[in-house]
Amino acid sequence: MIQDDYRAAIDIGTTKVCTILGRKRSDGSIEIAGVGVAPCNGLHRGLVADSQSTTAAVLESIGSASKAAGMPIRRAYIGLTGSHVESRNNWSRFDVKSGVKVVTQEDMRRAISVASSDVEADGRSILHVIPRSYALDGIYGVRNPLGMHAGEMYVQTHAIIGDQHPIDSLKAAVKAAGIGVSGLVVEPIASAEAVLTEQEREEGVVLVDVGGGTSDIAVFHEGTIVHTAVLPVGGYQFTNDLAISFDISHQEAEEVKLKYGSAAQDARTASEEIEINPRGMDEPLLITRREVGQLMNDRAMEMIRLLMKKIGEPHVKELNINRLVLTGGGVKLDGFASIARYIFQHDVRVASPRGAEGLPEDNQDPQFAASVGILLWGMRNLPRESHISSKSQFVAASAPSAGSGLKSSIRNLLPRKLAGSRESGTPVGV
Ligand SMILES: Nc1ncnc2c1ncn2[C@@H]1O[C@H](COP(=O)(O)OP(=O)(O)OP(=O)(O)O)[C@@H](O)[C@H]1O
Ligand SMILES: [Mg+2]
Repeated sequence: MIQDDYRAAIDIGTTKVCTILGRKRSDGSIEIAGVGVAPCNGLHRGLVADSQSTTAAVLESIGSASKAAGMPIRRAYIGLTGSHVESRNNWSRFDVKSGVKVVTQEDMRRAISVASSDVEADGRSILHVIPRSYALDGIYGVRNPLGMHAGEMYVQTHAIIGDQHPIDSLKAAVKAAGIGVSGLVVEPIASAEAVLTEQEREEGVVLVDVGGGTSDIAVFHEGTIVHTAVLPVGGYQFTNDLAISFDISHQEAEEVKLKYGSAAQDARTASEEIEINPRGMDEPLLITRREVGQLMNDRAMEMIRLLMKKIGEPHVKELNINRLVLTGGGVKLDGFASIARYIFQHDVRVASPRGAEGLPEDNQDPQFAASVGILLWGMRNLPRESHISSKSQFVAASAPSAGSGLKSSIRNLLPRKLAGSRESGTPVGV
């Protein structure tokens, strides 16, 4: 009997952790079996700043996803972000043995391995080496050389690299929750996997996932990825501006942002008053929506200009891309997309994740693009490993040390045998 191919993905974000368990059907389609979301405040700008609270949020979200799916999770693909993530495009030469022969899957695998060793990582970790195109005996633009004849092959790759320390901290926080890391998926490519259409990738598109603490950028052209970057700014900046400007707590600032925040200047509601509670005052204070809107508008303008600057590098600029796709919770701010349209002066679309069946309605939201994308990308590009334990193990489990202070209900959802010690390390290639 062929075992069902179940795999899990964990998106550890600056505001929430989301675990998704999915099943790959024999026809290649992916069905969501369970989703678990837990608030998280263990990260700062996409990096683990408090490992214990990150681990606790991972445990809580895994517990919910396990419960929803009715099976425990023991390994997962993990999303990685942070402004240390950078990309490089390279050409590498690879000889297809001596003489002309048919290019095999093994040749393509070896070509990626050669390309990986050519990446100038400057001592940093290579996260992905993605083939973009091939040149066979001087003929460029070959997308899939499998089965073609060649003596000499060049492969053009997009390599994504990152700093070792934040990678290690992220893995440690996951392992402390008793979960093995099957592979890391860089969040910009995960979000792109969940929201972009083939046509957009073909014609050229800039994808930006504005999260709580980071904005993840991926640029595609002629069907392949050409640029990946992460900016350490996100929805937090809007909240922080409100907190500082009006001397209110971050919690109150977040509530004001979600309820009244708009980057669009709307004359109809501008004079509406909002009651706030500044820290140094005994009495509440009335401010107008215009004041809140002005802050949101200034910050949105600044953030989008920063994004434009980040994609202003010559190898992206020369492609004349005229389409921007926005996702992530930050783009839900009213008026954000309109400002992006105004500055970018081209097509702008706000996207929610797609490509997986059975995604609960609550998760069909830009905030879950990366979470869904980690699962999709991992399932489509990384090797299969057993991500779940058999159902018989879905009983009371011993908790890992990091979870000792956690609710017993969460502890009980952990696999009896915690993940094995084998760890796939940083995945290279697709
Ligand atoms: N309706 C809304 N209006 C304005 N901002 C919103 C809205 N809904 C969510 N946000 C903001 O979206 C951000 C969270 O987005 P998201 O869940 O994508 O981030 P994350 O994945 O936790 O963080 P990151 O990807 O940066 O590590 C928060 O800053 C939140 O305030
Ligand atoms: Mg995110």
